[in-house]
Amino acid sequence: MEGWQIRETFLRFFEERGHRRVPSASLIPPPESGLLLTNAGMNQFIPYFLGHAPAPYDRATSVQKCFRTNDIENVGRTDRHLTLFEMLGNFSFGDYFKRESCGWGLELVTEGFGIDPGRLWVSVYETDDETIDIWLDLGIPRERIVRRGKDDNYWWTHAAGPAGPCSEIFVDRGSRYGDEGGPAVDEDRYLEIWNHVFMQDEVDERAERRGELPAKNIDTGSSLERVATVLQDKATIFETDIFQPLFAVAESLAGVRQGEDERTDISLRVMAEHGRATTFLIADGVQPSNEGRGYVLRRMLRRLVSHARRLGIERPVIEELAEATIATFGGAYPELVENRAYVLQVATSEEERFGGTLRQGMALFEDAIGRASGTLPGEVVFKLHDTFGFPKELTRELVEDAG
Ligand code: SER
Repeated sequence: MEGWQIRETFLRFFEERGHRRVPSASLIPPPESGLLLTNAGMNQFIPYFLGHAPAPYDRATSVQKCFRTNDIENVGRTDRHLTLFEMLGNFSFGDYFKRESCGWGLELVTEGFGIDPGRLWVSVYETDDETIDIWLDLGIPRERIVRRGKDDNYWWTHAAGPAGPCSEIFVDRGSRYGDEGGPAVDEDRYLEIWNHVFMQDEVDERAERRGELPAKNIDTGSSLERVATVLQDKATIFETDIFQPLFAVAESLAGVRQGEDERTDISLRVMAEHGRATTFLIADGVQPSNEGRGYVLRRMLRRLVSHARRLGIERPVIEELAEATIATFGGAYPELVENRAYVLQVATSEEERFGGTLRQGMALFEDAIGRASGTLPGEVVFKLHDTFGFPKELTRELVEDAG
């Protein structure tokens, strides 16, 4: 199944079970969410879970563009870190609860996606015996059901709001990917593909329980990119069809191909991933700046440009990456097409601005790193930032790469 088929299969499955298909919300969340960027499919439904507004439907399904910023500098260096990803989800607002959610989850994974049930493992919150019984009834053997604590199996947005214990579905990708023993042993081999959250609590920003929600709700989330990795039997997220148009552009600009060299692979991945993610951010109205969301965008655009230079590309790259993103994802996210001219203008002007100072900044950096003994002086970091526009995170990455 290609990416678009996975999206459509998921949404249809839940539509056939009485769910309203709801479009993805913007990556810019409402201020009252307390979030910098939309980080889960449930964000747009928070007022319904909290009981602050009546839900216009009892059941919903969506494919939500999500953004997680904690790992930007890891993107490219691992097989699975992304900033932007698409989250497939189904939601119940005081309607069905655990049994239906787990049952439909298993049905879609095995019958809809065709994954062999013998490859599945599940996790449950440590005290949630009820969900263990549900999985046993559904035919998951006891030895492939694992109990996990609050760090792994309790979900909240990381801002104050709705929360709950959760149950995850994992696929065993086989001994090629790691050690036997289940998700507690190896999360590369046992890839988590779907999280079912039983939304019942209200918590503060540190996940301390403040009370009960007015109703018991369901919030599930499944990463489209991970499902594609499994269904297309790829070793990494980046080899799925979802990313191929972006890599085609990056490879042709750089004149190198994936898999030739670890160092160039990192830069190709940064170009593909950041090219896609920044296009989505700008299409939703984020502009490069020195704080908040705008700084996330600026950091990523500048990291992208510096990796393109590292690949020896001297000409502008962002326009072609943005065009490939719009062509690939514009069907599912029409706002990309609607805002095409604006995206290209914002992205290319940031590239020009930084492209103009990058070479001089790199010369300063090379000189300083040649003379530094173990530590790059703070005044160099400051000058790189102040005069040449290097975000400090970019300088840190260059310093690490220089050993
Ligand atoms: N909100 C949960 C998550 O992001 C399930 O959708 O994992």
